[in-house]
Amino acid sequence: LTLVLAESSIERIPPELTGHPSVVAHARRKQKEPCSIILDRSYHHSAMIQLECSKTSKTMSKRGRPDITFHFLLAGLGSPLNREGLLTVLVHTIDDHVIEIDASTRIPKNYDRFIGLLEQLYDQRSVPPGDHPLMRIRRSTISGLLEELKPSMTIVFSTLGKPSTLEDTSPLIASTDNPLVLIGGFAHSHFEESTIKLADYVFSIDRDALDAWIVAGRVIYEYERSIRLPERRLRSP
Ligand SMILES: C[S@@+](CC[C@H](N)C(=O)[O-])C[C@H]1O[C@@H](n2cnc3c(N)ncnc32)[C@H](O)[C@@H]1O
Repeated sequence: LTLVLAESSIERIPPELTGHPSVVAHARRKQKEPCSIILDRSYHHSAMIQLECSKTSKTMSKRGRPDITFHFLLAGLGSPLNREGLLTVLVHTIDDHVIEIDASTRIPKNYDRFIGLLEQLYDQRSVPPGDHPLMRIRRSTISGLLEELKPSMTIVFSTLGKPSTLEDTSPLIASTDNPLVLIGGFAHSHFEESTIKLADYVFSIDRDALDAWIVAGRVIYEYERSIRLPERRLRSP
């Protein structure tokens, strides 16, 4: 299973905000240049509000939430499916980068350390630098990524999709050899229309909008059940 957190709220501080007092103060505390830190609404809210009011920039509602990717990666990489080598986890960002993460990567459990890792990744393009990086970042759109991966089926989860329980959708996902699932890595708003067009199926699994990492954890678990992974893992020590 390939699980992509798409249009994720990760980017560096945009040029319009590098001079904002809250950003400058935060960068000084971190002993970094403002342009090299990751936009985070929990620290840069007042700066983001200013940009929203100026209306010069694209919508801010999908931006500044790198914590979503943090929780998503912890859920994905810690899953039995990943331990079995049956999961590929990728992050596509709102600024059109793709982050590749090796299945053996241990994401720091501490959020600030995770942000430090992301900042290092944007600086150096791979972490650790060298021949065997655990994480790599490169430019790619979501459609460019799908052209490379050539999935046999693309399933998008969205509250705007066709209502269907995960119990019902998982056998469909497990019925094909190279399925790819897209979950939105943002807190508000919806996927771009161009992303929805890439889908073979769009499903809604609850009447409410759930956190992306809750949906990811459940997709993974129901997929594990569809391929009878829990029983197999209990049988073979
Ligand atoms: C917090 S939601 C984004 C909010 C957005 N308003 C929405 O309704 O999808 C983050 C992501 O989790 C997934 N998600 C959340 N709730 C869902 C639901 N009820 N059905 C299907 N996917 C859901 C979607 O992939 C969504 O993009």
